[in-house]
Amino acid sequence: MRAAVLHERSPDERRVAAVAATVEKMTEWGWDVAVEPGAGAGAGVTDGAFTAAGATVTRDALAGAALVLQVGPPEPSLIGEFGEGSTVVGFLDPFVRADLIREIARRRLTALAVEAIPRITLAQSMDALSSQANLAGYAAVLAAAGASPRMFPMMVTAAGTIPPAKALILGVGVAGLQAIATARRLGAVVHAYDIRTETKEQVESLGARFVAAPTEEADEGGYAREVEEDTQARQHEALAPFVADADIIVTTAQIPGRGAPRLVTSEMLAEMRPGSVIIDMAAATGGNVEGSRPGEVVEIGGVAIHGPTNLASAVAADASRMYARNLIGLLERARGDGGGLAIDLDDEILDGCTVVHEGEVRHPLSTALLERTAP
Ligand code: NAI
Repeated sequence: MRAAVLHERSPDERRVAAVAATVEKMTEWGWDVAVEPGAGAGAGVTDGAFTAAGATVTRDALAGAALVLQVGPPEPSLIGEFGEGSTVVGFLDPFVRADLIREIARRRLTALAVEAIPRITLAQSMDALSSQANLAGYAAVLAAAGASPRMFPMMVTAAGTIPPAKALILGVGVAGLQAIATARRLGAVVHAYDIRTETKEQVESLGARFVAAPTEEADEGGYAREVEEDTQARQHEALAPFVADADIIVTTAQIPGRGAPRLVTSEMLAEMRPGSVIIDMAAATGGNVEGSRPGEVVEIGGVAIHGPTNLASAVAADASRMYARNLIGLLERARGDGGGLAIDLDDEILDGCTVVHEGEVRHPLSTALLERTAP
C-alpha cells in the first residue's frame, strides 16, 4: 500500500505529517511511503533523511496512494487529485469546513480527523490536539516575550533593579498549563485562571497564583461548560485588576463546539499599560479578547493583541515529531492484517475520528454542519 506524505499547501504551515522515524515504521509495516519534495524542509527533515528512512521522494506522491497523510486540511481542489477509495488523515476541521467534508463525501473517500479522536486514556498516544496545544502554549509565551518591550526575569544590576514581568494566563487546559510553565521558566510572576474547579491545584503546583474568580465543575468529558451571563460578569469583575496589571496575557479558553468565551473586554483593555502584549490563542473561534482578529496583530490603546492561528508551526521540528508519532499510534490501530488499512468502526477510537467512511458522513457534528449549511 502506498502512503503519501504531502508538502503542506498552506503558506504558514511548516509542520509535516511524517518524520524519518515514522517513515521507518511504515516501511516496516510493508508500506511504500512517497514524500513530496521539500515536505519536511520547514521542520528540519531533509528529502535525504526521508530517502534514508526508506521513502521515495517524488512530485507524484499522490499517484496511486491509498493513504494521504497531512497536517492541515487539504483544499477541496486538492481532494480531486486523491485516488479513488483513498483515506486522508489530518487536522481536517470537520466541524467547520462544510466544503471540505462535502467534497470528501462526494468523492466517496474516507477521512480520519485527528481532532475527533476521543480524549480517553487509551487514545493518549494519538491525541494530536493535546500534543500540538502543548507546544502552542510554549510558543505563545515566546511570541509574547518577543513582542514585549519588557524582560521577563527580575534583574538586580549596578544600573538598577528590574522587576519581573507579570504574566496572566487565562484558560488552563493543555496549552495554558504549558504557557504557565514557560512563563515561570522565563522568570515572570504568573497569575492564572480557569473556570474548571480542579485547575486551581494544577496552577499552584506550577508555582503560579490562581485568580479568585468563579469556578464550576467540568462536564462528564472533563471540559468547561458555557457560563451564565451573571457568572461571566463576576469573572470580568474579578479578572479586571489582574488584566490591568499584566505585562503579558495569554488566553486559551475554549468550549468545544461553541464560540470562545469572552474574558477580556474593551473596558478591561482600556485599563492596561501601553506596551502590554496579549496573545489570544482563541482568536480563530471568536476570541477571548474583544477586538482580537485571527492571523492579525491589532493595537488598541498601545496594547498589542495578537491572534495567531498556527502557533505550533513556530516549533515545527518538535511539533512534527510529536504529530507524526500521534499518527503512527492511530495508523497502528487502523492497520489490517492484509498490509493495508482496515478501519474497524466498532473500535471506539476509530469510530470517533472516522468522520467520513467511504463517502458516508458519520460524525454527528459533521452531519449537523452539513444540514446547517445545506445549499
Ligand atoms: P480546551 O482547549 O477546550 O479549553 C482550554 C481551557 O479553557 C479549558 O481548561 C477550559 O476549562 C477553559 N475555559 C473554557 N471556558 C472558560 C471560561 N469561561 N473561563 C475560563 N476558562 C475557560 O481544553 P483542552 O486544553 O483541550 O483540555 C481541557 C481538559 O480536557 C483537560 O484538562 C482534561 O480534563 C481533558 N483532556 C483529557 C485528555 C485525556 O484524557 N486523554 C487529554 C486532553 C485533555
